[in-house]
Amino acid sequence: MDERVKKIDEAVEYIKTRICGKTPQVGIVLGSGLGNLADKIAAEAVIPYSDIPNFAKSTAIGHKGNLIVGMLAGKLVCAMQGRFHYYEGYPMERVTLPVRVMARLGVKTLFVSNAAGGINPFFSVGDLMIISDHINLLPNPLIGPNFEEFGERFTDMTSAYDRTLIFEARKAAAMLGIDVREGVYLANPGPSYETPAEVRFYNTIGADAVGMSTVPEVIVARHSGMRVFGMSVITNMSNVSNKETHLNDGQDVIDQADAAADKMERIFSAIIESL
Ligand code: HPA
Repeated sequence: MDERVKKIDEAVEYIKTRICGKTPQVGIVLGSGLGNLADKIAAEAVIPYSDIPNFAKSTAIGHKGNLIVGMLAGKLVCAMQGRFHYYEGYPMERVTLPVRVMARLGVKTLFVSNAAGGINPFFSVGDLMIISDHINLLPNPLIGPNFEEFGERFTDMTSAYDRTLIFEARKAAAMLGIDVREGVYLANPGPSYETPAEVRFYNTIGADAVGMSTVPEVIVARHSGMRVFGMSVITNMSNVSNKETHLNDGQDVIDQADAAADKMERIFSAIIESL
């Protein structure tokens, strides 16, 4: 048996024992500062990552490191309270292992969230952005022998972010009176923030927001045949105006994300209800 599949299945078997063999339909990845969204889940199991075979340690700030399984908006969901990043030093296989695990548990739709820097000069701190597309400047997590158990060698990424789910998100935001933006998320490795020249470059190539995560999970989810919906909280404006006094700070990112978590939860819940 493929060693990689063995590792995934060990995690799957352990999680199944903790959730009485139930099948979560929806997966959620909660990014920096967004972990409190999990409080809205009627939890049936809260599983620390340290208990799950082959899960990495969550070392990033604002990432609690629990897998929460429970009901949200009438569906059984499986939520990651914190994710793994390439900048933490993990190979892509470990960064994306939880998404493979979710696929094996039966998850059909993945919601991804993150804190991101605003590149689009019309954005403001605190904005929510529906991710319509992405630009990947991280290594592709599908490099290596193809995981035939999950999907084909070449994964189509034309509609990586599901059009129907985006439509539902727009509808929900309008109904709830929540302003949302839409745009392209660019993933770069980090952990250093972007220089002004990099921000100008990313703006030129079509990015609206920049972060250090999410895209590996989305690629693996698409390879595994899941539908994907993604949302960013603009926690800081990247130094588009090129001010030398501008400083990016990790704690600001967490505080802004925390403030937006409630709005994001209401949009996620409305979409989940529509599934
Ligand atoms: N750059 C990269 N990642 C981020 C940022 C940023 O400005 N803000 C939150 N995550």
